[in-house]
Amino acid sequence: MSENYSISYGTGDTSFQAAGGVTGIRQLVDKFYERMGADPRFSTIYNMHPDDIATSIDKLARFLCGWLGGPKRYQEKYGPISIPNVHQHLTIGTDERDQWLTCMKESIDEQTYEANFKDYLIAQLSIPAEVVRSRSNQ
Ligand code: HEM
Repeated sequence: MSENYSISYGTGDTSFQAAGGVTGIRQLVDKFYERMGADPRFSTIYNMHPDDIATSIDKLARFLCGWLGGPKRYQEKYGPISIPNVHQHLTIGTDERDQWLTCMKESIDEQTYEANFKDYLIAQLSIPAEVVRSRSNQ
């Protein structure tokens, strides 16, 4: 798959930089949760979140920094994490997985990222999203 991209985004911190670093990733996650809360298509997954959505925003933004090859900001503040384990108590089937991915894709599309980085990012996120679905409490 990676040979289709002109820059090898998986290498070093290239993905973190392409996403605009800490500020760009935080902006993406702000928009992601704003969209999730405002659009009834995503109400099932929005309603699964704790009331303190600011903490969910902080956690996902920090996680994505490290996941994209940047600083491990989630671990710095919250400690070790396993993405399947933190979702295991939730009921996430294909509908919920696709709500998450659609909300994320639309939020990514709103950003000023390179077009090929947008394609790369949503393709990469679909991998852990499917793992979350397959390991969740269904
Ligand atoms: C497959 C669809 C997904 C759904 C429906 C979903 C939903 C949720 C919900 C409801 C929470 C809050 C859980 C709680 O506090 O009780 C959460 C937390 C979180 N999610 Fe997801 N998620 C999905 C996929 C992903 C993916 C693919 C990633 C990472 C690439 C991710 C990263 C996180 C992180 C970092 C947290 C915070 C965990 C913590 O420290 O408590 N999620 N997610």
